[in-house]
Amino acid sequence: MYLQNAWYVAGWSSEFAAGPVGRVLLDEPIVFYRGQNGVLAALEDRCCHRAMPLSHGQVIGDGLRCEYHGLVFDAGGRCIDIPNQTAIPAETCIRAYPVEERDDLVWIWMGDPQRAARDEIVRYPYHGTWPYKCKSERLPCNYLLVSDNLLDQTHAAYVHKSTLASGIDKEARTEIEVKPTPDGVRFTRWMLNCIPPALYANAVRFKGRVDRWQEFEYVAPSCILQFTGALDVGLGAYEQGKRDGGFGLRIFYGITPETEHTCWFFWSTANGYRQNDPAATDELFQSIDDAFKEDDLVLEAQYATMRRLGDRPLVNINSDVARIHARRALERKIAAERGIARESVVTLP
Ligand code: FES
Ligand SMILES: [Fe+2]
Repeated sequence: MYLQNAWYVAGWSSEFAAGPVGRVLLDEPIVFYRGQNGVLAALEDRCCHRAMPLSHGQVIGDGLRCEYHGLVFDAGGRCIDIPNQTAIPAETCIRAYPVEERDDLVWIWMGDPQRAARDEIVRYPYHGTWPYKCKSERLPCNYLLVSDNLLDQTHAAYVHKSTLASGIDKEARTEIEVKPTPDGVRFTRWMLNCIPPALYANAVRFKGRVDRWQEFEYVAPSCILQFTGALDVGLGAYEQGKRDGGFGLRIFYGITPETEHTCWFFWSTANGYRQNDPAATDELFQSIDDAFKEDDLVLEAQYATMRRLGDRPLVNINSDVARIHARRALERKIAAERGIARESVVTLP
């Protein structure tokens, strides 16, 4: 069960610079193309004549031509030309999806176009103000496993031993604040008086131990905003909310279902500590990419086991609290859209 009336990330604006690009989102094949006017359009990736995918087509002016028998469609999905035929029957049209480019991202509305409220798109101004790098990946798991993984950062100690983990540290103290929101959940995980992880220590010269924060906001159905960093102990990161002068990075995540069993994972890393140093931005991206490969192995193995043994129960532990709030928010939205009780919404266990 997907939430239909919602904005999902379809990719990065930079991915749709040239000709048509086909992408399956929420089980629907969609073709994106940019007309000569520069406006990005999203259409059903299926010609209404003989079902040829329009992602094999060609951009003609502001329209898209099917490269089978030459029908041309405009950005609204209307056929505007049939070769050797003057009359164009009204039913010669395909579905068009509302799309919006914001903060270097492409957002698509998958539900009723009349209800597409552009002011509901999650804003992310850091793509305009912090140097960043981004990536699009396809992952072999249900999309909810990706947000589950991000919302329980206790996995870092085991999955990211060589990248993000702080290491075994008896003097460190951990605190978690979790706040449910109408659209999801916000949480901050503090690791106070801890040894900085290798990634941080390589990027910034710390005096010794640090106070480290991980702030996450999940916005249902599939967007997560992360702000992570550390300051030397005593500089007031925890006590006074100070964030500048140490290590800081922001990660944007758009997690969009492709099918029930696969998803798109769009993410960016923005450099908040050496902003005039392009090499630092590159290194940061590379380090996080290496860490995410560690996550990918877990997600693939976990999902394969879930599919094989999906009827066996799973248990929740304390660290699931943010993940559970996130699921509830999504289930509330799906239930409201379908007019059913939240308990009747079926998502991944
Ligand atoms: S299938 Fe597209 S024009 Fe025939
Ligand atoms: Fe991870």
